[in-house]
Amino acid sequence: RQHDALNLLRRARIMPVLSLASAEQGLACARALAAGGLSAIEVTLRTPAALAAIRAIRDAGLALTVGAGTVLDAAQLDAAIAHGAEFIVTPGTPPALADALQRAPLPVIPGAASASEIMALHARGFRTLKFFPAAAIGGIAALKALHGPFAELSFCPTGGIGEHDAKDYLALPNVPCVGGSWMVKKDWLDAGDWAAVSASARRSLGG
Ligand code: 3PG
Repeated sequence: RQHDALNLLRRARIMPVLSLASAEQGLACARALAAGGLSAIEVTLRTPAALAAIRAIRDAGLALTVGAGTVLDAAQLDAAIAHGAEFIVTPGTPPALADALQRAPLPVIPGAASASEIMALHARGFRTLKFFPAAAIGGIAALKALHGPFAELSFCPTGGIGEHDAKDYLALPNVPCVGGSWMVKKDWLDAGDWAAVSASARRSLGG
């Protein structure tokens, strides 16, 4: 499953992190992102509509993998799986959540922010991690330094990344994918400007 998580990130390259107001908004946004060429999205469990949005996106059968993000505990993990989430992302990974993720029957990308956290997850068999909040904890320089001792690990940096530096992160050997909210502006979500979302997705892939 760690291999599945890595393949998912390698294929995706860019991971939109979405906080959605409704299932309808989520579905329309997912369609627009898929039309723009993106293959995976992370729906954060930060809004009341998040689980319904994951269910709606999954049921639509788009050419796009939908995961749940901001998963903070085992109960949220179970709820996300029950609503059709195809992968799981966490901002950090305390031991009880790591236990639950180890048992989970789908690709998981646990969050870490330091060498010690990375080592704890490595010891449990995780090889593909989220590096959060990336810009605030050293960004590209930190990921370069971590590649020394942790050369077999891959990271999806997220937090504070934008259009201007996503490519620089992606050029690192230990970064198969970068995540963030920059490619879906809240104004476009609010206005239903799906053409803008598709164009932004295309741009984020370098198109
Ligand atoms: C996350 O949960 O991954 C971040 O909140 C996304 O970060 P960004 O909004 O700074 O891109």
